[in-house]
Amino acid sequence: MRIVNFGSTNIDIVFAVDHIVLPGETISSSNLTRSTGGKGANQSVAVAKAGQHQIFHAGRIGPDGLWIKDKLQSMGVDTSFLAEGETPTGQALIQVASDGQNSIVLYGGANKEFTTTEIDTIFSHFSAGDWVMLQNEINQLPHIIRKAHSLHMPICFNPAPFDKSVLDLPLELIDLLVVNEVEAEGISGKKDPLEAMETLTRTFPNTGIMITLGGQGVRFGQGSDIRHSFGTWNVPVVDTTAAGDTFIGCYLANIAKGRTVEQALEAASAASSVTVMRPGAMDSIPTPDEFSILENYSITR
Ligand code: RIB
Repeated sequence: MRIVNFGSTNIDIVFAVDHIVLPGETISSSNLTRSTGGKGANQSVAVAKAGQHQIFHAGRIGPDGLWIKDKLQSMGVDTSFLAEGETPTGQALIQVASDGQNSIVLYGGANKEFTTTEIDTIFSHFSAGDWVMLQNEINQLPHIIRKAHSLHMPICFNPAPFDKSVLDLPLELIDLLVVNEVEAEGISGKKDPLEAMETLTRTFPNTGIMITLGGQGVRFGQGSDIRHSFGTWNVPVVDTTAAGDTFIGCYLANIAKGRTVEQALEAASAASSVTVMRPGAMDSIPTPDEFSILENYSITR
């Protein structure tokens, strides 16, 4: 089974600040870094590092992002479908506060230039049973969802960052919907995550619903019968950027390897706990060796 991720590829400009800047305020940062990111690319890397070797990152970059291709390849991601164009690579302006919380401003750039022709060409290399990963940082989502469904390719969709356009998507065609509390409320209209779970599993009975709750762990549900939950590790938080991306990539890699939902939840939860203990987005995702240790621990204990 292969996984193709139609996902964003960003250059992350990260400012280390005491607190997230307030409206009208000017503050200084104690550090500045430029690195690779994008929810899509981070999730592709998490899949690759968690041991799913056939992960294809179908993205778009500009002339300023050619170095990202090398980096993704060095991390085990297949970049055969990472296209290069003239529009600048997407960028994320990220503030990371001293308590580890972040705030992000996005510029879509090349991420917003997918064409249906190009997407159909990429799909021609895949077949029924191969997974499609998606987030909400690229264009053409309705086309990708319908095409994947028509080809019997299961879809894992993380509607982040959430905006109202998500509500117009054919969400009933999604196989695994991964949301945080904000996204769960945006789609279900319910603030309480337990109520959101009941609404989402009723509205989309054929879809696996995963609600990630940060420090409160994660809940999984499908239809009226299947419910799982998993807590979290109490670790020192340095930077929460890409914790959700690590979780999703690790979860799907484990499912692809034939693990149960409970095993995949446990492994993904451990992996994202490691990510929050380190600075950065893609660079904070556990290494393949760390993934093996975490996975063996969670499966044999
Ligand atoms: O989820 C973290 C990512 O969100 C960052 O890498 C940034 O690029 C934004 O897309």
